Amino acid sequence: LSADSLYIVNSFAQKFFATQLFETEEGTQIAESYLTERGFSKETLQKFQVGYNPQARSTLAQAALNQQYSQDVLLKSGLVTLRNDELVDNYRGRIIFPIHNNSGKIIGFGARVIGKADKAPKYINTPENEIYVKSKILYGLYFARLAIDKADECLLVEGYTDVVSLAQAGVENVVASGGTSLTVDQLRLIKKYTNNLTIIYDGDAAGIKAALRGLDMALEESLNVKLVLIPDKEDPDSYVRLVGATAFKDFVADNKKDFILFQLEVMLKEAGNDITKKNDVVNHIAETISKINKAEDFSKQQEYIRQCAGMLKLDEGGLTNLVNKFI
Ligand code: GTP
Ligand code: MN
Ligand code: MN
Ligand code: MN
Ligand code: MN
Repeated sequence: LSADSLYIVNSFAQKFFATQLFETEEGTQIAESYLTERGFSKETLQKFQVGYNPQARSTLAQAALNQQYSQDVLLKSGLVTLRNDELVDNYRGRIIFPIHNNSGKIIGFGARVIGKADKAPKYINTPENEIYVKSKILYGLYFARLAIDKADECLLVEGYTDVVSLAQAGVENVVASGGTSLTVDQLRLIKKYTNNLTIIYDGDAAGIKAALRGLDMALEESLNVKLVLIPDKEDPDSYVRLVGATAFKDFVADNKKDFILFQLEVMLKEAGNDITKKNDVVNHIAETISKINKAEDFSKQQEYIRQCAGMLKLDEGGLTNLVNKFI
């Protein structure tokens, strides 16, 4: 089974799903209307090649078999499952977001339930195969590359709809991690285009935690990391719809925090006057600073030592010694 056969069946499926979304009664009434209500224009949906997999058991499977696609390749693609000797569709009744590689070929899909997710998972993704390697995927990168290059900055959000929504609002240098922790491979993909990464996550505890998890790795990869937390119960998609494109861009510009200083601020607040906790904070921040790639960013490391020592009311020499212990 070749990688090419997977690209080909994915491309077939994408066209099938798009036709279902825009040219069938079920698609337009259930899926397109849902997406329209959420504020997505047809132009945007077509740019991102969004589609719909109907509710019936095997609409896609039947169409693919009619076109002589093999059972093997269909199963490997994750588009269908074998149940009692019958191929059935995996993404029934879901909105389909194709995921592209850097040359625009479709490597897999994210499939969202329509409306509120109660029992079923909100999203289902393509299972790992030769061409879909989760740790190396950034959703939207194919569409965002040029804008990232031009802005010399990559915005990182959590979800598919955040990417699509921001692009529609004219913020095009944006990719999504898919709600999981960042991997080194994803950071290296970003580094091909820019050293400046701005993480835009939900302002809730989970969002902050997810963002902080990627920090040490990003520093080791010599990325300059900034963080923007979206207020209250919003995410970038809902927030840009709430306040509009201009106010969203202003918000991001005005609320970019340096990631290391932000981390220190959060930890200091938590520690309060507790001396033991404060000592842990000092150690933690020294370790974080030690992750900065010294060969490439020596002066950056010095600058962080200076600023963090100030915030911690420590002398710079002492903090430098501690940082060096972690290297
Ligand atoms: P909308 O609810 O349509 O606005 O999507 P969202 O992107 O805002 O969803 P959410 O914030 O809940 O999740 C962020 C990202 O995490 C999603 O875009 C998915 O990539 C991923 N994710 C969320 N829920 C699931 C799930 O049930 N399964 C899997 N595999 N991934 C999920
Ligand atoms: Mn959240
Ligand atoms: Mn979200
Ligand atoms: Mn959302
Ligand atoms: Mn840490």
